[in-house]
Amino acid sequence: MATTCTCTFVLCLSLTFFMFSSASSTEADVLLSFKGSIQDPKNTLSSWSNNSTVHYCNWTGITCTTSPPLTVTSLNLQNLNLSGEISSSICELTNLALLNLADNYFNQSIPLHLSQCSSLESLNLSNNHIWGPIPDQISQFHSLRVFDFSKNHIEGRIPESFGLLVKLQVLNLGSNLLSGSVPSVFVNLTELTVLDLSQNVYLMSDVPSEIGKLGKLEQLLLQSSGFYGQIPESFVGLQSLTILDLARNNLSGVIPQTLWSSLKNLVSLDVSQNKLSGSFPNDICSAPGLKNLGLHTNFLYGSIPNSIGECSNLERFQVQNNEFSGDFPAGLLSLSKIKLIRAENNRFSGAIPDSMSMEAQLEQVQLDNNSFTGKIPHGLGLVKSLYRFSASLNGLYGELPPNFCDSPVMSIINLSHNSLSGQIPEMKKCRKLVSLSLADNSLSGEIPPSLADLPVLTYLDLSDNNFTGSIPQGLQNLKLALFNVSFNQLSGEVPPDLVFGLPASFLEGNPGLCGPGLPNSCSVDLPRHHKPAGLSALACALLSIAFGLGILLVAAGFFVFHRSTKWKSETGGWHSVFFYPLRVTEHDLVTGMDDKSAVGSGGAFGRVYIISLPSGELVAIKKLVNIGNQSSKTLKAEIKTLAKIRHKNIIKVLGFCHSEESIFLIYEYLPKGSLRDLISRADFQLQWSDRLKISIGVAQGLAYLHKHYVPHLLHRDIKSTNILLDADFEPKLTDFALDRIVGEATFQTTIASESAHSCYNAPECGYTKKATEQMDVYSFGVVLLELIAGRQADQAESVDIVKWVRRKINIANGAVQVLDSKISNSFQQEMLAALDVAIHCTAVLPEKRPSMFEVIRALQSLGSKTRLSDSYLSTHEENSVPV
Ligand SMILES: *[C@@H]1O[C@H](CO)[C@@H](O)[C@H](O)[C@H]1NC(C)=O
Ligand SMILES: *[C@@H]1O[C@H](CO)[C@@H](O)[C@H](O)[C@H]1NC(C)=O
Ligand SMILES: *[C@@H]1O[C@H](CO)[C@@H](O)[C@H](O)[C@H]1NC(C)=O
Ligand SMILES: *[C@@H]1O[C@H](CO)[C@@H](O)[C@H](O)[C@H]1NC(C)=O
Ligand SMILES: *[C@@H]1O[C@H](CO)[C@@H](O)[C@H](O)[C@H]1NC(C)=O
Ligand SMILES: *[C@@H]1O[C@H](CO)[C@@H](O)[C@H](O)[C@H]1NC(C)=O
Ligand SMILES: *[C@@H]1O[C@H](CO)[C@@H](O)[C@H](O)[C@H]1NC(C)=O
Ligand SMILES: *[C@@H]1O[C@H](CO)[C@@H](O)[C@H](O)[C@H]1NC(C)=O
Ligand SMILES: *[C@@H]1O[C@H](CO)[C@@H](O)[C@H](O)[C@H]1NC(C)=O
Ligand SMILES: *[C@@H]1O[C@H](CO)[C@@H](O)[C@H](O)[C@H]1NC(C)=O
Repeated sequence: MATTCTCTFVLCLSLTFFMFSSASSTEADVLLSFKGSIQDPKNTLSSWSNNSTVHYCNWTGITCTTSPPLTVTSLNLQNLNLSGEISSSICELTNLALLNLADNYFNQSIPLHLSQCSSLESLNLSNNHIWGPIPDQISQFHSLRVFDFSKNHIEGRIPESFGLLVKLQVLNLGSNLLSGSVPSVFVNLTELTVLDLSQNVYLMSDVPSEIGKLGKLEQLLLQSSGFYGQIPESFVGLQSLTILDLARNNLSGVIPQTLWSSLKNLVSLDVSQNKLSGSFPNDICSAPGLKNLGLHTNFLYGSIPNSIGECSNLERFQVQNNEFSGDFPAGLLSLSKIKLIRAENNRFSGAIPDSMSMEAQLEQVQLDNNSFTGKIPHGLGLVKSLYRFSASLNGLYGELPPNFCDSPVMSIINLSHNSLSGQIPEMKKCRKLVSLSLADNSLSGEIPPSLADLPVLTYLDLSDNNFTGSIPQGLQNLKLALFNVSFNQLSGEVPPDLVFGLPASFLEGNPGLCGPGLPNSCSVDLPRHHKPAGLSALACALLSIAFGLGILLVAAGFFVFHRSTKWKSETGGWHSVFFYPLRVTEHDLVTGMDDKSAVGSGGAFGRVYIISLPSGELVAIKKLVNIGNQSSKTLKAEIKTLAKIRHKNIIKVLGFCHSEESIFLIYEYLPKGSLRDLISRADFQLQWSDRLKISIGVAQGLAYLHKHYVPHLLHRDIKSTNILLDADFEPKLTDFALDRIVGEATFQTTIASESAHSCYNAPECGYTKKATEQMDVYSFGVVLLELIAGRQADQAESVDIVKWVRRKINIANGAVQVLDSKISNSFQQEMLAALDVAIHCTAVLPEKRPSMFEVIRALQSLGSKTRLSDSYLSTHEENSVPV
């Protein structure tokens, strides 16, 4: 008896083992055979191998059950650049529930054979090259819960048989070429939580009313397709909806009034750019009237019941570009979570409700081009998160409320084309104001000189008012890309730097104004010469020579030599640390650094010398004179940190040598000099591919400093003089992170005295002392503009390049004029795309600038052009000029 028992037990055990091992080998074989039909150019599936020591459950993209018997449940091969054939052999993985092949290059029709995968619940082939119609047999996928074929080339009609996929929770056919009318297939798809038919421009369909029965639907995305007709009354049934996007269709009629009562969970509503009309009930999205409270007074202990806070989750309300009329719903502006309200280009009338409160989280309100009358609401100044408010082209009157620009993040105000009167109040709190337009009102009084204290003010339009007095001198210190005061009653001398580079039309209509280039040239005696632009140009030119260093490789091979030699020289308190085998003594260095070997007059931190070592090799030595009061220990630690950087786009620190007073940093020498030398040559010629290479290289060097190198570093002084080039135009950054060596305080005073108004400095440098990655990104953007335009950032006789470019692109076809005309037209598209990157990098608001990684991706995609549409830029907002 006992014997039998044991035997059975052993048998069971071995049987289990047998089943397990045979199952494993089969699953691995299935995977290998699946791999066999796939092209994998980047070899991302290298772990998929039969001789691998890694268990197949640990191969790239595979997930297995968590406990034995181990079996594959999910295959996630997203974004691996795979192509070839999706073999049905994969269905031999009997427990495969999820297959994600999104963001690859599979080029075929819809792989119906995957319906043989008996356990498959989620199929994601988004963003591939799937083409052709959806066959009727699509119903074979009846076990699927997730069907994502968005961003492909699927065409033709949606078949009726889709209605049989009754388990579907996510149906995404967005961004395809579907056409015709959407059939009534949704009656039985009661599990749907996400329905996306957006961006199918060939659809011509009314909105199927049975969608309204989908009580579990959370996201309904039908934007940018061909839907017409009315929004069905049945939508009242969408009790779970959080996102409703019907924008950019051809919808008409009124929004069913009952809808508002049911959309309790709505977070985002977008019906913009349709032909919708009618008015909004005035009490939508507002707390109940007092009558309800009256009835329940006795029960009002504790909090107000949830149900009365209709729209209490609403964050985005977009109804712009329709034909809506009537009063604007008062409750909207006081919702506790609302962030974005866009209602421009409608026919709303009445006053702008003054219901905003201090608790509001509003960020953006656009009400332009309606028929609003009345005054600007006082509540405007209470909202601390508001960064954009525009209500131009309305009938607003009265004075600007004194607090209208009190939000500390306010960036854009447009109240032009109204009937406002009175003076501009003092605007001291909105230190981030970028754009202020008050054109075409009846404002009067003087232009407040305090406008000049707003550090990032860039667009200022005060035209067509009744302003008097003179133009404040201080305004010429701002980086104004637009300054329009035409048709006022201004008088006196125009600050010279403002006249310069601005179209005369921006000053016209002010008979009292005088100055160079105006009909009235002030007085006969000497028209004041403004500061010779030549001076800074000269300084820049000298600087560029100073940095025109180059390299001779210290030794062929560049083996990593990290021996530190250290000794006290008898002659003085000199110590040296070499990270490369430099056969040189401090004495050689110190005596070698004379006026003959110096290049230029010296930059911010000291002069640069080119020294020939006894071996005949050349090195560049930067003599830092201003070394603050770092202890010699800190100093050494910091320089070692910099010297350990190994990146092809960052110059090597070969060693250093220091005494009490100075430090010599020894860099590799590049004979080709700096980018600045190249650009400043009268015969500057460089083909587009080399310019792109330089910009990508610089971006990679910066990204490395920002994110990969530990500790993370900021360059803090990116400019074309600090970009050296090797023989193949591979750029190398120099003079990086000098703040670590000289100390923050010394760095700031030195930089400030050198380049307070350098055009490479981001605007926020003016008001914040904390250095950020975004400041480097801005400076990079300036360098990229130099490469695109083929001109120096601070070219003499002109405004700084960012201003210049922004002024150009403000006019039609202006962007093309920015491009260096020496480059063939065939690169125009690429150059315009690069310009777009540069403009984003030089955005006035730091948070609008991309990261260096995004920049690299965008620039690299220009080179390959394969998937331009994936570039991050295409996903940005419609504004072509970010602020
Ligand atoms: C691995 O698979 C290949 C073909 O798929 C086969 O030729 C080879 O013999 C296998 N190697 C081992 C170690 O099983
Ligand atoms: C597996 O074997 C092939 C040759 O059959 C070899 O090229 C490959 O490097 C091996 N892979 C591993 C992970 O050992
Ligand atoms: C997968 O790898 C992890 C970590 O390396 C290891 O703990 C685990 O046992 C492996 N799984 C299998 C099935 O080999
Ligand atoms: C990705 O795949 C595409 C098309 O198959 C190919 O042209 C491209 O070179 C691949 N990219 C990489 C990095 O392998
Ligand atoms: C897909 O493959 C066909 C040939 O089979 C080819 O003509 C077409 O250009 C391919 N599509 C893409 C986007 O690569
Ligand atoms: C499909 O994959 C894409 C790309 O990773 C992803 O954005 C999308 O959310 C996935 N779809 C679903 C329904 O999970
Ligand atoms: C919905 O399901 C019912 C019952 O299974 C069926 O009769 C009907 O045809 C289905 N409707 C659609 C549109 O598929
Ligand atoms: C919009 O719908 C109207 C009818 O409602 C039709 O006449 C018009 O052609 C449609 N426009 C577009 C762009 O589809
Ligand atoms: C103002 O809105 C009307 C439609 O209501 C539109 O036709 C017009 O172009 C808009 N004006 C501007 C300047 O956008
Ligand atoms: C402009 O101001 C002057 C006096 O400062 C006044 O006489 C004139 O009526 C004003 N014009 C308008 C259009 O407000």
